[in-house]
Amino acid sequence: MCGIIGYTGKNNAREILIEGLHRLEYRGYDSAGVSVLDGGVITTVKSQGRIDALDEKIGGTLPGTSGIGHTRWATHGAPTDKNAHPHASADGKFAIVHNGIIENYESLRAELTRHGMEFRSETDSEVVVNLLAYYYDGDLKNTVMKATSRLEGSYALGIVCADFPGRLFAVRSMSPLIIGVGAGENYFASDVTAFISHTKNIIHMEDGQFAEVTPGGITLYDAIGRQVEPVYEKVTWDAEAAEKGGYEHFMLKEIMEQPRALEATINPRIHGGKITPEGLEALDMENIDRIVITACGSAYHAGVVGKYVIEELCRIPTTAELASELRYSSPILNERTLVIAISQSGETADTLAAMREAKKLGAPVLAIVNVVGSSVAVLADYVLYTWAGPEIAVATTKGYTTQVAMLDMFAVWAAGKLGTVTPEREAELTAAIASLPASVQRAIYLSSNVEEIAERNYRHASLFFIGRNIDYASCLEASLKLKEVSYIHSEAYAAGELKHGTIALISPEQLVIAVACYGALRDKTMSNIQQVKARGANVIAVAREGDRTMFAEADDVIFVPGTEPIFMAVPQIIPMQLLAYYVARENGCDIDKPKNLAKSVTVE
Ligand code: G6P
Repeated sequence: MCGIIGYTGKNNAREILIEGLHRLEYRGYDSAGVSVLDGGVITTVKSQGRIDALDEKIGGTLPGTSGIGHTRWATHGAPTDKNAHPHASADGKFAIVHNGIIENYESLRAELTRHGMEFRSETDSEVVVNLLAYYYDGDLKNTVMKATSRLEGSYALGIVCADFPGRLFAVRSMSPLIIGVGAGENYFASDVTAFISHTKNIIHMEDGQFAEVTPGGITLYDAIGRQVEPVYEKVTWDAEAAEKGGYEHFMLKEIMEQPRALEATINPRIHGGKITPEGLEALDMENIDRIVITACGSAYHAGVVGKYVIEELCRIPTTAELASELRYSSPILNERTLVIAISQSGETADTLAAMREAKKLGAPVLAIVNVVGSSVAVLADYVLYTWAGPEIAVATTKGYTTQVAMLDMFAVWAAGKLGTVTPEREAELTAAIASLPASVQRAIYLSSNVEEIAERNYRHASLFFIGRNIDYASCLEASLKLKEVSYIHSEAYAAGELKHGTIALISPEQLVIAVACYGALRDKTMSNIQQVKARGANVIAVAREGDRTMFAEADDVIFVPGTEPIFMAVPQIIPMQLLAYYVARENGCDIDKPKNLAKSVTVE
């Protein structure tokens, strides 16, 4: 995710900003920039690529003791110099850095253009600086309040104005921003890593708050401009722990980030109770007879979920195919087959090859991808970005859940277009999608017993995951997660298939994790639980919150919050991600960088 740093004090701002940006590098970025204020003039330098390239571009000296800096991870618009932050207003009065997504940027941009404001980038962020310039009346606090009151979405902002030397504004709304308190100098940043070498005294800004930051002090305001008392805290982390937000591993940090990541995927695409995925305007679902989803690893498992959801809602025959298989299978695809390619990195060689094959055969290709401007995005005819933010841990977590959520949204959108659901049902399904971030937050809360379950079970050499329908798709992903990070062998089995051979392997003490959330098939999976219990297996059930009868059959029960049954794949994977994590930790594995694995597999 993008990184912000702001500094005002007595030292050269450029050096502190560049150092802060380097410390934010771990978050992933594709361009960087700084704005420094000196003698009433804001100098902005930005560059695609590495921070060293930016430093080189700045060249010799850049005087000034206050400024803002940014590492950008592209969401709207390619990673170019122009789209890099800071964005400056045409009159040179303001420069801003932004982290988050401005959901109503298109209408604001149109409005500001009508007022004669110029736009130089393709970003959503540039509307912020133009709003500031538009509302500027000499009163900076007032101007910031007026401009930000127009914004919908999530944003952390750093603002500098040429008329106010040494005075910065920091604004927080659903994107993290922390103030660092120094002596005669102050900071703000997306996380404490950026300034931890200078100060460990911080103020956590709350959502809706904004702050005026000068070398001599910090004035904190609530959303309506009333001054609030800051709460000072001291961090005890070192720089390495700070990168992980205080978590022991990136994997755990990213598991916990999922409610936010899902908000970023979902919220900008729901308007007036309807799903409006940008970029699909030209895709006529009436011309599609069949859907083939293709991907690798966890992205493939998201595709297996998607198959169930799309078939149920759209009534279009859908298959999920491993890209490494599809590419060599002489597939039957044509212009009436929609191929959906899913990839977090957008650089997976097999997925790209399958896409090329599909294109050669004339099939339209829709990509669901996280990395903006990646090869998958460039090759596709239609792109839906998941906007999950950069994922550092090799084992994907937020990358996966946002892919599933995107497929859920696609299915509801397509079903609405095709009329395979009534408008009332479409509205219900849309509301259920909108509540997925909250469901995931609750799933995290309900998973409080997972660590202890992992501590009792981490020594198993092999285990089974069983489930049906969407529960089965989640088993595939849960099993892969466990294998990847803990090196424990596991198999995901369609629960009903167990009796056709695999049940021979069930003996006393064998661990079976049964996912029994999917409404209509819960009782069927219950029968399978009874079958393995009768053979002495130890069963951990993943069940819907409130399903207390599960205690009668299973040795342990992990609850997940209920949501629309076909969307359960999103909340129900949470405890199993956590189980994989804690089991790996108990086994002393290198969780963020498992042996033999790469985050992005760019070779065949
Ligand atoms: C690698 C990673 C997996 C990932 C798969 C697909 O194998 O280790 O975690 O699911 O690639 O990656 P993609 O970037 O295409 O989603």
